[in-house]
Amino acid sequence: MTDERGISATHLREVLNEAPDGIVVVDGKGTLTFVNNTATAMFGYSGRELLGRPVEVLVPDAFREAHAQHRAEYRARPYVRQMGELVNIAGISKTGEVFPLDIKLSPIGRGKDFQVTAIIRDARSYRQMKDRLEKHASSLTRMNAEMRVLMGELEEKKQKLERASAQRTLILGVTAHDLRDPLAAILGYAKVLHEGLLGEINPQQRDATERIRRQSDYILRLVNDLLDVASIEAGQFRIEQTELDMVRLLQDVVTVERIAADERSLRIVLNHDQEELALKGDPVKLEQAIRNIIGNAVKFAPSDSTVRVGLSLDDGFAAIRVHNEGPVVPDEVREHIFDPFTSGSAESPSQHRGAGLGLTIARTIALGHGGDIHLEPSGQSGATFVFRLPIK
Ligand SMILES: Nc1ncnc2c1ncn2[C@@H]1O[C@H](COP(=O)(O)OP(=O)(O)OP(=O)(O)O)[C@@H](O)[C@H]1O
Ligand SMILES: [Mg+2]
Repeated sequence: MTDERGISATHLREVLNEAPDGIVVVDGKGTLTFVNNTATAMFGYSGRELLGRPVEVLVPDAFREAHAQHRAEYRARPYVRQMGELVNIAGISKTGEVFPLDIKLSPIGRGKDFQVTAIIRDARSYRQMKDRLEKHASSLTRMNAEMRVLMGELEEKKQKLERASAQRTLILGVTAHDLRDPLAAILGYAKVLHEGLLGEINPQQRDATERIRRQSDYILRLVNDLLDVASIEAGQFRIEQTELDMVRLLQDVVTVERIAADERSLRIVLNHDQEELALKGDPVKLEQAIRNIIGNAVKFAPSDSTVRVGLSLDDGFAAIRVHNEGPVVPDEVREHIFDPFTSGSAESPSQHRGAGLGLTIARTIALGHGGDIHLEPSGQSGATFVFRLPIK
């Protein structure tokens, strides 16, 4: 017998026999009328041992009665029952081994021709996998709960730290603010004394007043930097932009920094391609940032060397490059160089003394203008900082 596509009944039987799932057909009385090879192997029977026997031989003792009843009900209301629709179905092998099954049922024919095809899958490996997955899932749930507790603790610690940090910033701000006025007064009086406005002073006294002036000037700068960092941390660092000429600004900064450079027999050479470079920025803040970068170069360069300051156009940015000779920046300083209070000056000579705030402020100023700052990779010697500002 062949169907219209030319598949012979024998061929069809072979295909069914070798299907990866077990296939059994049961008639209306519950008698097995077909069992494929996969099914016989699954239940441990040989060849045709099962044909003509009631399907209940494949059902474990405990379920046999209920199974016969289900069969009658199914016959009264047949429908296609999918795989996985019923859980905890079990089969029993010839040797008496009970194992989990997954079954799909499809009714064929009516009345006395009623038959049911069952596709049977051995669910042992599936169940084992399911058990394993359930175990994994429960350990994941446990880990999740532990994580949640840890996250809660972390959040609490973070909030504590944030409160502490806000408090520190406040104290920093208030202290620095309160220091600033008396310091300005000390500086003022030192100048008045130094210039002989309160009466003649001798060279020794002049030397002393000069020292007072320098030291209080240093502290005043430090206090101002601390105030800046406090306002950066509080998110209140304001940048007010106006039209300005970058060439002029650089010339002014270099003029001021030359005073310190002269004392160390350093030359500052300024190179710029254009006569004028107009951009929008905060002149006070930019001067502060660039003074620190050039000031650092002057501070860290060996005496009698040259600090080179260049201004050029770089892809829509004005780039200010500051190079000094001297030792390269050690890696441990380089990593945190733009973080507050990073100062590699602990072992350096006292003229290198600094709080490690200058570059933090310079970076905030660069970013606040839509620009950036970086330290170029170490070369043979010295350091090169590049401060960039967008040209709008
Ligand atoms: N041109 C440079 N050459 C070598 N090291 C530098 C140079 N510029 C900065 N550094 C290193 O980076 C550190 C941080 O610089 P930053 O300007 O932030 O602080 P500072 O100069 O130490 O102190 P402050 O600027 O607050 O007075 C310096 O202490 C120094 O170790
Ligand atoms: Mg500095």
